[in-house]
Amino acid sequence: MTDFPLGTRAVPDAWDRRGLPAWTYRSEALLALERERLFLTHWQVAGHVNDIPAPGDWFAFDMPGERAVVMRGEDGQVRAFHNLCRHRGARVVDGARGHCRGAVVCPFHGWVYNLDGSLRGAARPSTFGAMDRAAFGLKPVEMEVFHGFVFLRFAPGPQPAVADLLAPFAADFAAYRAGGLLPAERSHWAFDLPVNWKSVRDVDNEGYHVALAHPGLQELYGRTYRDLHLDDGLSVSVGWFGDAPGRGWSVRRYLRHAPARPDLPPHLRRAWTYYGLFPNAVFAFTPEAAQFYQELPVAPGLTRLTGRMYRGPDEARATRIARYLAWRIDRATSAEDRQLSVWSDESMRSAAFEGFHLSDLEYGLRRHHDALRRILPVMTLPEAPAEGEIARRNDELIDRSTRPG
Ligand code: FES
Ligand SMILES: [Fe+2]
Repeated sequence: MTDFPLGTRAVPDAWDRRGLPAWTYRSEALLALERERLFLTHWQVAGHVNDIPAPGDWFAFDMPGERAVVMRGEDGQVRAFHNLCRHRGARVVDGARGHCRGAVVCPFHGWVYNLDGSLRGAARPSTFGAMDRAAFGLKPVEMEVFHGFVFLRFAPGPQPAVADLLAPFAADFAAYRAGGLLPAERSHWAFDLPVNWKSVRDVDNEGYHVALAHPGLQELYGRTYRDLHLDDGLSVSVGWFGDAPGRGWSVRRYLRHAPARPDLPPHLRRAWTYYGLFPNAVFAFTPEAAQFYQELPVAPGLTRLTGRMYRGPDEARATRIARYLAWRIDRATSAEDRQLSVWSDESMRSAAFEGFHLSDLEYGLRRHHDALRRILPVMTLPEAPAEGEIARRNDELIDRSTRPG
């Protein structure tokens, strides 16, 4: 079996095998806190610079309550802005992606912005009295590009710069030539699942379920699959294929067509790798393709699953076929995971359910919960506080843990 050149935190001999209390999957007030302390303040991957190759190309990235647009300017620079007109807040671009010819024209009253976000002019400017145009540009959103992937952060937070945060992944992303990836044909996808976002992440954070729940993946790499637990909210999962012939239609053919990629280091050849980033995103690479996926909460019981798929440039025919077959395997896997998420989420409503009792193979899930509890210690309370008390109780617990002595 190949070694992966990243160390993992060992699973302790004895650890608390319980998950988060059920109420944390249902509370509106907790979701408001998660939004404020987690989703707005932690880096979110939004796309790739090659999603917008030409000046005027843009893609949108929506979060509950916030919305951004990432756009390439006339100067070739990629910038991120709040998708929020400075007049009355309309979306300046509408939809998931598009192209603005030379300028962004707000669809509400027609204010015009340059592709660098500066205001070119208001419609009927004389009706605004004296107005300093320079003060009304689109508001920037903090942005960083890491090996081509565009990360956004809506508010300052505890994570360092993406380049530092993801430094342990840098060599692998470079080996995969992530910076040169191109969007696949059906690159962007999104749909809503009626569960709490943590129910999706809980399922994705462990590989214990692969053997039974994912027959395709089990056949492909189940015998070699492993999870690595890194620090700072990072994780890696990897499975190597090719040690056994496949039986299913897609896997059997995939094993025939998957490119050998002698250019990759040994630990990435014939591997499917998954690079996790706290709190809600995963980058997945295979020898022929790459993608990221993430969960964005809409309501306590509603989550938008979204992601983007990429391919390498100069794709050979066999590689293209392999990418199609990998997509078929993934499509089945995702459907299986969605069902598991729904069941897991439903259990949180049952009076009979006593909570998770986790295996060592599910330690990644515990680490995710621990990271959540550090930021939102109210999640340590076994019983739900009153909704109106949740924010206050949380701040009390933070004060108590940081008080000297
Ligand atoms: S809201 Fe954009 S022009 Fe009025
Ligand atoms: Fe799964």
